[in-house]
Amino acid sequence: MLDRINALKAEISALQASTPEEVEALRIKYLSKKGAVNALMADFRSVPADQKKAVGMEINALKEMAAGKINALRSATESAETLDDSLDLSRTAAPLPLGTRHPLSLVRDEIVEIFRRLGFTVAEGPEIEDDWHVFSSLNFAADHPARDMQDTFFIQRNPDVLLRTHTSSVQSRTMEHTQPPVRIVCPGRVYRNEAISARAHCFFHQVEALYVDKNVSFADLKQTLLYFAREMFGPETKIRLRPSYFPFTEPSAEMDISCNLCGGKGCGFCKHTGWVEILGCGMVDPNVLEACGIDSATHSGFALGMGVERIANLKYRVNDLRLFSENDVRFLREFTHAR
Ligand code: DAH
Repeated sequence: MLDRINALKAEISALQASTPEEVEALRIKYLSKKGAVNALMADFRSVPADQKKAVGMEINALKEMAAGKINALRSATESAETLDDSLDLSRTAAPLPLGTRHPLSLVRDEIVEIFRRLGFTVAEGPEIEDDWHVFSSLNFAADHPARDMQDTFFIQRNPDVLLRTHTSSVQSRTMEHTQPPVRIVCPGRVYRNEAISARAHCFFHQVEALYVDKNVSFADLKQTLLYFAREMFGPETKIRLRPSYFPFTEPSAEMDISCNLCGGKGCGFCKHTGWVEILGCGMVDPNVLEACGIDSATHSGFALGMGVERIANLKYRVNDLRLFSENDVRFLREFTHAR
């Protein structure tokens, strides 16, 4: 009996086939109900009881080996079949459909790129911050309303752990370990405790820029702003600075650009003024420089900050803030061809 099993093993392991049909014929010959392997079972009855276990194991091993051999022959002949002349294996695989970049990423990268061309480098900071970097170092008085619970998300009832309300915190983080010249652009997400609507959200995005060196003047700020506005919105763009107030800059200003929808003639978008507001800016307050370890007698700087959603709205007319975070693919696909 064992001799017959071994002979069959040798026979099967030497099998060859070149087409799937041949493989099927071999399968029937060896593995079907009436096949050679099953035929052994008829004789199994006459095996003495004390050898049944050992012989049974041999037969099982043979079955397994035969099934493996037939499967191997089958896949070899099938793949050989598909290798006909019409198949070009050097072709690239079917292209996967490409996703699209999020409009906020597109706009953020465009803003950052413009400042990089002016020699600014990217700096980042944490979204979970402390009071010093978000407020105190930036000259916010202890009773400044921006620290209020209604605006700021505090964590674990500890007023010193909070979500940053603006990217200006990256200014103080960078200045405290870098001596001038400092020329940074800081993109990032910020948080404010606001009810979500078309015009307000509890998180949004800003880009901050800071330049500190000897002899930095308001003229440098203005020229930087003009360059930015023209690169972002086109060479015809005009800018206008209005006096404003921020704790961390003195003097401070808000910048408008000529409405890029009507070219400054006046339309519904610019409320018929011809101008739209896009950012806040100013000369870094000497108190801020001192708080960050920079000598305000020898150094000066300018800073500016803008909302990415605001710029995206101006560029792509997305006027409901909620669209940016709902991730509706119909909205996101509209930016397939944006750069
Ligand atoms: N941090 C201000 C805000 O969140 C924006 C800002 C205004 C940033 C003036 C600046 C600046 O750097 O100089 O509204």
